[in-house]
Amino acid sequence: MKILTVADQEEMSRRAAEMIIDLVRLKPSAVLGLATGGTPEGTYRLLALDHRKNGTDYREVRTVNLDEYAGLKPEDPNSYHTYMETHFFQYVNIPSEQHFLPDGTAASLNEECEDYDRLIDNLGGVDLQLLGIGRNGHIGFNEPGTAFNAGTHVVKLSESTRQANARFFGSVQEVPERAITMGIGTILKSRAILLLVSGPSKAEAMSRLLAGSEPDSNFPASALISHPNVTVIADAAAISAAK
Ligand code: F6R
Repeated sequence: MKILTVADQEEMSRRAAEMIIDLVRLKPSAVLGLATGGTPEGTYRLLALDHRKNGTDYREVRTVNLDEYAGLKPEDPNSYHTYMETHFFQYVNIPSEQHFLPDGTAASLNEECEDYDRLIDNLGGVDLQLLGIGRNGHIGFNEPGTAFNAGTHVVKLSESTRQANARFFGSVQEVPERAITMGIGTILKSRAILLLVSGPSKAEAMSRLLAGSEPDSNFPASALISHPNVTVIADAAAISAAK
């Protein structure tokens, strides 16, 4: 795991955007694995700015998102479909038929999960998977205890995750109880992984990640230790408080 420590969230976002832009320029048909949440918002903003100013071309890029809430229609203001449209897709030229997110309203969520893993394989796998980290070490919506070889699956969200995400909803009761997430096995198949960590609320998770020498299923992010190409960009608030 390569750890880059940066001053603040802005620098983290800039370094992450540079890595993604370099990849898209080198491989115009790259498959990008994308995340939602507060952490990558600045990265998406900088990618949009670069597209507008420098014309980085996303025509051939394909994207697969990590997760989606069960039961939310794509047009729901709190769905991750809406998040991606609002923060990224509307600003770059990826044809809409080349963005993929799990469908949280599929008639059979289990079939949707199997189809999603097949889709990722058919796209040729993920070139670069962007990740954030939950306070409990979750990646995607893989909560502590998830098997590290799991494919895309339906999860019951932990109380702490629902509390943390309540800020995007009116109240914690409105946060769906279940979600579809790429499994840790799916995430580990990515050719490269970029984990972004920002702010003091992530310090404990960061400290556990730095201290861990072996994967431990009670701390999902530790699965990344076994992957050969992981870059972590962490800001000073997440690192210094972690020591
Ligand atoms: C989002 C996702 C989650 C978040 C994590 C951190 O698609 O899969 O694992 O990355 O919950 O969320 P923020 O960035 O809001 O702190």
